[in-house]
Amino acid sequence: MTDKTPLLIDTDPGVDDALALLMAFDDPRHEIVGLTIAAGNVGLRHTVANALKLCEVAGRQDIPVFAGCAGPLLHPAPDAGYVHGQDGFGDVGYDAAKRQVEAEHAALAILRLSHEHAGRLLLVALGPLTNIALALKLDPTLPQRVARFVVMGGAVTCQGNITPAAEFNIYYDPEAAHIVLEAFERIELADWEAVIAHGLHHERVARWLQSGSAHGRFYERISEKTRLWSIDRRGDHWFAADALAMAFALAPEGALEVVDRPVAIELEGRHGRGATVVDWRRESGRPDKVAILMRYDQARFEGLIEAALR
Ligand code: BDR
Ligand code: CA
Repeated sequence: MTDKTPLLIDTDPGVDDALALLMAFDDPRHEIVGLTIAAGNVGLRHTVANALKLCEVAGRQDIPVFAGCAGPLLHPAPDAGYVHGQDGFGDVGYDAAKRQVEAEHAALAILRLSHEHAGRLLLVALGPLTNIALALKLDPTLPQRVARFVVMGGAVTCQGNITPAAEFNIYYDPEAAHIVLEAFERIELADWEAVIAHGLHHERVARWLQSGSAHGRFYERISEKTRLWSIDRRGDHWFAADALAMAFALAPEGALEVVDRPVAIELEGRHGRGATVVDWRRESGRPDKVAILMRYDQARFEGLIEAALR
Protein backbone atom coordinates (compact mmCIF):
# COMPACT_ATOMS: atom_id res chain seq x y z
CA MET A 1 0.00 0.00 0.00
CA THR A 2 1.27 3.52 -0.82
CA ASP A 3 0.66 6.76 1.07
CA LYS A 4 -1.20 8.08 -1.93
CA THR A 5 -4.97 8.43 -1.74
CA PRO A 6 -6.69 5.77 -3.88
CA LEU A 7 -8.84 7.51 -6.48
CA LEU A 8 -11.66 5.89 -8.45
CA ILE A 9 -13.21 7.98 -11.22
CA ASP A 10 -16.60 7.28 -12.78
CA THR A 11 -16.69 9.22 -16.02
CA ASP A 12 -18.27 9.61 -19.49
CA PRO A 13 -15.46 11.09 -21.62
CA GLY A 14 -16.31 13.72 -22.96
CA VAL A 15 -13.94 16.64 -23.57
CA ASP A 16 -14.10 18.15 -20.07
CA ASP A 17 -13.91 14.66 -18.54
CA ALA A 18 -10.66 14.20 -20.48
CA LEU A 19 -9.23 17.38 -18.99
CA ALA A 20 -10.23 16.24 -15.51
CA LEU A 21 -8.60 12.86 -16.13
CA LEU A 22 -5.35 14.51 -17.27
CA MET A 23 -5.40 16.53 -14.02
CA ALA A 24 -5.79 13.32 -12.02
CA PHE A 25 -3.07 11.53 -14.04
CA ASP A 26 -0.74 14.39 -13.13
CA ASP A 27 -1.44 14.47 -9.40
CA PRO A 28 1.35 13.20 -7.10
CA ARG A 29 -0.91 12.77 -4.05
CA HIS A 30 -3.38 10.36 -5.63
CA GLU A 31 -3.17 6.93 -7.18
CA ILE A 32 -5.86 6.17 -9.72
CA VAL A 33 -7.15 2.66 -9.04
CA GLY A 34 -9.63 2.56 -11.92
CA LEU A 35 -11.83 4.38 -14.38
CA THR A 36 -15.42 3.18 -14.47
CA ILE A 37 -17.18 4.35 -17.57
CA ALA A 38 -20.71 5.66 -17.89
CA ALA A 39 -22.83 6.49 -20.91
CA GLY A 40 -23.79 10.15 -21.01
CA ASN A 41 -22.05 12.71 -23.17
CA VAL A 42 -22.19 10.05 -25.91
CA GLY A 43 -22.89 6.32 -26.05
CA LEU A 44 -20.93 3.82 -23.97
CA ARG A 45 -19.03 2.42 -26.97
CA HIS A 46 -17.47 5.84 -27.49
CA THR A 47 -16.94 6.80 -23.85
CA VAL A 48 -15.09 3.52 -23.26
CA ALA A 49 -12.98 3.93 -26.42
CA ASN A 50 -12.19 7.52 -25.40
CA ALA A 51 -11.06 6.54 -21.91
CA LEU A 52 -8.78 3.83 -23.31
CA LYS A 53 -7.34 6.22 -25.88
CA LEU A 54 -6.67 8.98 -23.36
CA CYS A 55 -4.83 6.52 -21.10
CA GLU A 56 -2.74 5.40 -24.08
CA VAL A 57 -1.86 8.92 -25.18
CA ALA A 58 -0.95 9.92 -21.62
CA GLY A 59 1.14 6.77 -21.06
CA ARG A 60 -1.22 5.48 -18.34
CA GLN A 61 -1.81 1.95 -19.58
CA ASP A 62 -1.54 0.83 -15.97
CA ILE A 63 -4.99 2.25 -15.12
CA PRO A 64 -7.76 -0.35 -15.56
CA VAL A 65 -10.86 0.78 -17.47
CA PHE A 66 -14.25 -0.84 -16.74
CA ALA A 67 -17.36 -0.43 -18.92
CA GLY A 68 -20.62 0.29 -17.13
CA CYS A 69 -24.27 0.73 -18.04
CA ALA A 70 -25.13 1.59 -21.63
CA GLY A 71 -27.97 3.95 -20.70
CA PRO A 72 -30.00 5.40 -17.82
CA LEU A 73 -31.72 3.13 -15.29
CA LEU A 74 -35.26 3.89 -16.41
CA HIS A 75 -35.98 6.46 -19.08
CA PRO A 76 -34.06 7.09 -22.31
CA ALA A 77 -32.21 10.43 -22.37
CA PRO A 78 -30.56 12.60 -25.02
CA ASP A 79 -26.76 12.73 -25.17
CA ALA A 80 -24.48 15.78 -25.54
CA GLY A 81 -22.82 14.91 -28.85
CA TYR A 82 -23.64 18.41 -30.08
CA VAL A 83 -21.14 19.77 -27.51
CA HIS A 84 -18.44 17.09 -27.43
CA GLY A 85 -18.65 15.74 -31.01
CA GLN A 86 -20.61 12.65 -32.03
CA ASP A 87 -17.82 10.41 -30.71
CA GLY A 88 -17.37 12.54 -27.56
CA PHE A 89 -13.80 13.46 -28.53
CA GLY A 90 -14.38 16.07 -31.23
CA ASP A 91 -14.74 13.62 -34.16
CA VAL A 92 -11.04 13.88 -34.99
CA GLY A 93 -10.85 10.28 -36.19
CA TYR A 94 -8.13 9.04 -33.85
CA ASP A 95 -6.79 5.47 -34.15
CA ALA A 96 -8.42 3.21 -31.59
CA ALA A 97 -6.35 2.35 -28.52
CA LYS A 98 -4.60 -1.00 -28.63
CA ARG A 99 -5.76 -2.00 -25.16
CA GLN A 100 -9.16 -3.60 -24.50
CA VAL A 101 -11.54 -2.74 -21.69
CA GLU A 102 -11.52 -5.04 -18.61
CA ALA A 103 -14.08 -7.86 -18.46
CA GLU A 104 -15.51 -6.83 -15.07
CA HIS A 105 -18.59 -4.58 -15.08
CA ALA A 106 -18.05 -1.05 -13.74
CA ALA A 107 -20.59 -1.49 -10.92
CA LEU A 108 -18.81 -4.63 -9.73
CA ALA A 109 -15.42 -2.93 -10.03
CA ILE A 110 -16.68 -0.03 -7.88
CA LEU A 111 -17.72 -2.50 -5.18
CA ARG A 112 -14.51 -4.56 -5.36
CA LEU A 113 -12.27 -1.47 -5.27
CA SER A 114 -14.29 -0.05 -2.38
CA HIS A 115 -13.38 -3.18 -0.39
CA GLU A 116 -9.73 -3.12 -1.46
CA HIS A 117 -9.42 0.54 -0.39
CA ALA A 118 -12.04 0.61 2.36
CA GLY A 119 -11.98 3.78 4.43
CA ARG A 120 -9.47 5.53 2.13
CA LEU A 121 -11.20 5.65 -1.25
CA LEU A 122 -11.83 8.96 -2.98
CA LEU A 123 -14.70 8.41 -5.42
CA VAL A 124 -15.23 11.06 -8.07
CA ALA A 125 -18.25 11.03 -10.40
CA LEU A 126 -17.97 13.11 -13.56
CA GLY A 127 -20.94 11.76 -15.49
CA PRO A 128 -24.48 10.46 -14.97
CA LEU A 129 -24.67 8.45 -11.75
CA THR A 130 -25.99 5.21 -13.29
CA ASN A 131 -23.03 2.95 -12.44
CA ILE A 132 -22.86 4.15 -8.85
CA ALA A 133 -26.62 3.73 -8.39
CA LEU A 134 -26.38 0.18 -9.72
CA ALA A 135 -23.47 -0.55 -7.37
CA LEU A 136 -25.60 0.75 -4.47
CA LYS A 137 -28.49 -1.51 -5.43
CA LEU A 138 -26.11 -4.48 -5.47
CA ASP A 139 -24.53 -3.49 -2.16
CA PRO A 140 -26.08 -0.67 -0.07
CA THR A 141 -23.07 -0.72 2.29
CA LEU A 142 -20.86 0.93 -0.36
CA PRO A 143 -20.94 4.42 1.29
CA GLN A 144 -19.43 2.99 4.49
CA ARG A 145 -16.19 2.27 2.63
CA VAL A 146 -15.89 5.55 0.71
CA ALA A 147 -13.84 8.22 2.48
CA ARG A 148 -14.86 11.09 0.18
CA PHE A 149 -17.34 11.30 -2.67
CA VAL A 150 -17.15 14.22 -5.09
CA VAL A 151 -19.81 14.68 -7.77
CA MET A 152 -20.01 17.01 -10.77
CA GLY A 153 -23.69 17.61 -11.26
CA GLY A 154 -26.75 19.70 -10.64
CA ALA A 155 -27.63 23.37 -10.78
CA VAL A 156 -28.18 24.59 -7.25
CA THR A 157 -30.52 27.46 -8.03
CA CYS A 158 -32.04 25.56 -10.95
CA GLN A 159 -30.19 27.44 -13.69
CA GLY A 160 -29.51 24.39 -15.78
CA ASN A 161 -27.61 23.72 -18.97
CA ILE A 162 -29.64 20.97 -20.64
CA THR A 163 -33.09 22.26 -19.67
CA PRO A 164 -33.84 25.61 -18.05
CA ALA A 165 -33.88 23.89 -14.64
CA ALA A 166 -31.59 20.86 -14.93
CA GLU A 167 -27.92 20.12 -15.43
CA PHE A 168 -26.89 17.41 -17.90
CA ASN A 169 -25.42 14.69 -15.62
CA ILE A 170 -28.44 14.68 -13.34
CA TYR A 171 -31.00 15.13 -16.13
CA TYR A 172 -29.57 12.17 -18.05
CA ASP A 173 -30.40 9.79 -15.19
CA PRO A 174 -32.41 11.44 -12.39
CA GLU A 175 -33.45 8.11 -10.86
CA ALA A 176 -29.79 7.15 -10.45
CA ALA A 177 -29.00 10.56 -8.94
CA HIS A 178 -31.89 10.11 -6.49
CA ILE A 179 -30.64 6.67 -5.41
CA VAL A 180 -27.11 8.00 -4.91
CA LEU A 181 -28.19 11.09 -3.01
CA GLU A 182 -30.37 9.09 -0.66
CA ALA A 183 -27.66 6.50 0.02
CA PHE A 184 -24.64 8.63 0.87
CA GLU A 185 -24.36 10.49 4.17
CA ARG A 186 -22.14 13.12 2.60
CA ILE A 187 -21.57 14.24 -0.98
CA GLU A 188 -19.28 17.05 -2.11
CA LEU A 189 -20.87 18.74 -5.09
CA ALA A 190 -19.40 20.89 -7.85
CA ASP A 191 -22.51 22.03 -9.71
CA TRP A 192 -22.96 23.76 -13.06
CA GLU A 193 -23.46 27.16 -11.45
CA ALA A 194 -20.09 26.90 -9.68
CA VAL A 195 -18.63 26.02 -13.07
CA ILE A 196 -20.14 29.18 -14.58
CA ALA A 197 -18.48 31.18 -11.78
CA HIS A 198 -15.08 29.64 -12.65
CA GLY A 199 -14.83 30.10 -16.41
CA LEU A 200 -11.52 29.79 -18.23
CA HIS A 201 -10.63 32.53 -20.66
CA HIS A 202 -10.29 31.01 -24.13
CA GLU A 203 -7.07 32.90 -24.89
CA ARG A 204 -5.44 31.53 -21.77
CA VAL A 205 -6.60 27.99 -22.56
CA ALA A 206 -5.13 28.35 -26.05
CA ARG A 207 -1.77 29.32 -24.49
CA TRP A 208 -1.78 26.30 -22.18
CA LEU A 209 -2.46 24.10 -25.18
CA GLN A 210 0.80 25.23 -26.80
CA SER A 211 2.82 23.19 -24.29
CA GLY A 212 3.88 20.72 -26.99
CA SER A 213 3.47 17.56 -24.90
CA ALA A 214 1.94 14.57 -26.72
CA HIS A 215 -1.12 14.55 -24.49
CA GLY A 216 -1.39 18.37 -24.73
CA ARG A 217 -1.42 18.13 -28.54
CA PHE A 218 -4.00 15.36 -28.44
CA TYR A 219 -6.11 17.41 -26.06
CA GLU A 220 -5.90 20.42 -28.34
CA ARG A 221 -7.26 18.33 -31.23
CA ILE A 222 -10.11 16.66 -29.39
CA SER A 223 -11.24 19.83 -27.61
CA GLU A 224 -11.20 22.16 -30.61
CA LYS A 225 -14.79 21.55 -31.70
CA THR A 226 -16.11 22.04 -28.16
CA ARG A 227 -14.08 25.19 -27.63
CA LEU A 228 -15.34 26.69 -30.90
CA TRP A 229 -18.92 25.76 -29.97
CA SER A 230 -18.38 27.39 -26.59
CA ILE A 231 -17.00 30.62 -28.08
CA ASP A 232 -19.97 30.75 -30.42
CA ARG A 233 -22.59 29.97 -27.75
CA ARG A 234 -21.15 31.18 -24.47
CA GLY A 235 -18.61 33.90 -25.19
CA ASP A 236 -15.11 34.54 -23.88
CA HIS A 237 -14.99 31.87 -21.23
CA TRP A 238 -14.92 28.11 -21.46
CA PHE A 239 -16.74 26.15 -18.77
CA ALA A 240 -14.84 22.93 -18.14
CA ALA A 241 -17.24 21.42 -15.63
CA ASP A 242 -15.46 18.19 -14.78
CA ALA A 243 -12.13 19.98 -14.38
CA LEU A 244 -13.57 22.10 -11.55
CA ALA A 245 -14.94 19.01 -9.82
CA MET A 246 -11.55 17.35 -10.18
CA ALA A 247 -9.76 20.38 -8.71
CA PHE A 248 -12.15 20.21 -5.73
CA ALA A 249 -11.45 16.48 -5.38
CA LEU A 250 -7.66 16.62 -5.73
CA ALA A 251 -7.05 19.85 -3.84
CA PRO A 252 -10.01 20.53 -1.50
CA GLU A 253 -7.87 23.13 0.30
CA GLY A 254 -8.49 25.35 -2.76
CA ALA A 255 -12.18 25.61 -1.88
CA LEU A 256 -12.89 29.13 -0.57
CA GLU A 257 -16.56 28.66 0.24
CA VAL A 258 -18.57 25.49 0.74
CA VAL A 259 -22.17 25.48 1.96
CA ASP A 260 -23.91 22.42 3.46
CA ARG A 261 -27.58 21.88 2.58
CA PRO A 262 -30.17 19.14 1.98
CA VAL A 263 -30.68 18.41 -1.74
CA ALA A 264 -33.44 16.43 -3.47
CA ILE A 265 -33.76 15.34 -7.10
CA GLU A 266 -36.95 16.16 -8.99
CA LEU A 267 -38.02 13.00 -10.79
CA GLU A 268 -41.21 14.28 -12.39
CA GLY A 269 -42.66 17.54 -13.58
CA ARG A 270 -43.10 19.12 -16.97
CA HIS A 271 -40.26 21.61 -16.51
CA GLY A 272 -38.43 20.29 -13.51
CA ARG A 273 -37.34 16.70 -14.18
CA GLY A 274 -33.68 16.29 -13.23
CA ALA A 275 -33.52 19.51 -11.23
CA THR A 276 -31.48 19.53 -8.02
CA VAL A 277 -33.76 21.13 -5.45
CA VAL A 278 -31.59 22.65 -2.72
CA ASP A 279 -33.30 23.36 0.57
CA TRP A 280 -31.54 26.70 1.05
CA ARG A 281 -33.73 27.76 3.99
CA ARG A 282 -33.72 24.29 5.58
CA GLU A 283 -37.54 24.01 5.33
CA SER A 284 -37.59 20.22 5.05
CA GLY A 285 -35.74 19.33 8.23
CA ARG A 286 -33.71 16.85 6.21
CA PRO A 287 -29.99 16.49 6.92
CA ASP A 288 -27.39 18.82 5.38
CA LYS A 289 -25.89 16.00 3.34
CA VAL A 290 -24.48 17.90 0.43
CA ALA A 291 -21.44 20.14 0.65
CA ILE A 292 -21.96 22.58 -2.22
CA LEU A 293 -18.87 24.21 -3.68
CA MET A 294 -19.58 27.92 -4.08
CA ARG A 295 -16.10 29.37 -4.65
CA TYR A 296 -12.74 27.84 -5.53
CA ASP A 297 -9.35 29.57 -5.79
CA GLN A 298 -9.31 30.45 -9.50
CA ALA A 299 -5.51 30.70 -9.74
CA ARG A 300 -5.12 27.28 -8.17
CA PHE A 301 -7.75 25.81 -10.51
CA GLU A 302 -6.03 27.22 -13.56
CA GLY A 303 -2.63 26.10 -12.25
CA LEU A 304 -3.83 22.51 -12.01
CA ILE A 305 -5.11 22.60 -15.57
CA GLU A 306 -1.97 24.21 -16.95
CA ALA A 307 0.19 21.62 -15.20
CA ALA A 308 -1.95 18.79 -16.54
CA LEU A 309 -1.52 19.97 -20.14
CA ARG A 310 2.21 20.60 -19.84
C1 BDR B 1 -21.51 17.88 -17.36
O1 BDR B 1 -22.19 17.35 -18.47
C2 BDR B 1 -21.29 16.86 -19.43
O2 BDR B 1 -21.59 17.32 -20.70
C3 BDR B 1 -19.92 17.27 -18.97
O3 BDR B 1 -18.97 16.24 -19.27
C4 BDR B 1 -20.07 17.48 -17.50
O4 BDR B 1 -19.84 16.29 -16.77
C5 BDR B 1 -21.75 19.37 -17.29
O5 BDR B 1 -23.11 19.64 -17.16
CA1 CA C 1 -18.73 14.35 -17.75
